[in-house]
Amino acid sequence: MQPHSITVKPLTFAVLRLLSDGEFHSGEAMARQLDVSRASIWQAMRFLDEAGVAVFRVPGRGYRLREALHWIDRAKVAAALGDKADLFDLEVVDSIDSTNGRMLKKAAQGARHGSCVIAEMQTAGRGRRGREWHANLGGSLTFSLLWRFNQGAGFLSGLSLAVGVALMRALSQAGIAGAGLKWPNDVLHQHRKLAGILIELQGDMLGPSAAVIGIGLNLKLSDQVLDRIDQAAVDVHSITRDMPERNLLLAYVLSHLVDVLNEFEQGGFSCLRNEWLAHHAYHEKQVRLILPDGSQHQGHLLDVADDGALLVRTATGKQRFTSGEISLRGANA
Ligand code: ATP
Ligand code: BTN
Repeated sequence: MQPHSITVKPLTFAVLRLLSDGEFHSGEAMARQLDVSRASIWQAMRFLDEAGVAVFRVPGRGYRLREALHWIDRAKVAAALGDKADLFDLEVVDSIDSTNGRMLKKAAQGARHGSCVIAEMQTAGRGRRGREWHANLGGSLTFSLLWRFNQGAGFLSGLSLAVGVALMRALSQAGIAGAGLKWPNDVLHQHRKLAGILIELQGDMLGPSAAVIGIGLNLKLSDQVLDRIDQAAVDVHSITRDMPERNLLLAYVLSHLVDVLNEFEQGGFSCLRNEWLAHHAYHEKQVRLILPDGSQHQGHLLDVADDGALLVRTATGKQRFTSGEISLRGANA
């Protein structure tokens, strides 16, 4: 698959904000409002196409968004977070390569516990081991949260599983049913990937340490983005027509993250393990294990241990894997 990178210029975001009211706007009127040439507006509209934002063009009337765009709004997120709002320092950016990348830099510069970067759009969103995370503008939640732990990196081995539990609680609060967890870092719906978690750590084995918790949750993916994803993917819009507003959904996720991360800090993954297992998509099922060299092995998934390790019975006996050692797939996926 070709690496994909889209750059959306600030002017394109300015045009988008004018169009957000859902009304028609002529190129001429927008050029006047933004004090730029009509050619610049035309160019901005081309970038919108590339970013997967669908626009109606009607001669004589101008441009109109096919669908309303709900921008991330710090005030709305804070209002929905209520008493928990002070626990976060929210930064919203229009376009960035990767929120995890940005948060890692901020963490190294001493950013506070609870700092969170949310991007309207990522140009180089990343998954594990150099893989790409794709999203279209307004069609997903893509953000990274900084959480500082007194414990060292060794304690955090089950953290991505714990974060999965927070996502499940948030989806349930939002009325999104039928999701499940795949070890170690995915949320699935009917075997298709709905959300991914990428945790990157700073600090040492003895602590203290800082975790950058990156989450990508698909809300409404464009066909272009779906085409770019090389495995089965799904979005909230295809699961329910009553999709909660983006800001509210973000607040649900952040709110449950606080609870789960506090539980995790007190008792490690073991105190969340039963809840994780209750959502486990492949519990006691036949699975395929993909090793980093690309070789594949069949196995029977036995359990997930207190420290988050995966226990599988393979042809060579009972084996234990930690996150990063293998990729997991359903036997028939
Ligand atoms: P693993 O089991 O190792 O986690 P994975 O294939 O899910 O394997 P990740 O690194 O977790 O790999 O996630 C990145 C992968 O997710 C990409 O290689 C791509 O296949 C897929 N992907 C990218 N963007 C999306 C998206 N928006 N929705 C669902 N899947 C995506
Ligand atoms: C995965 O499934 O491998 C993890 C995907 C994580 C994607 C999110 S989107 C926000 C944050 N910033 C990134 O670059 N990646 C994570």
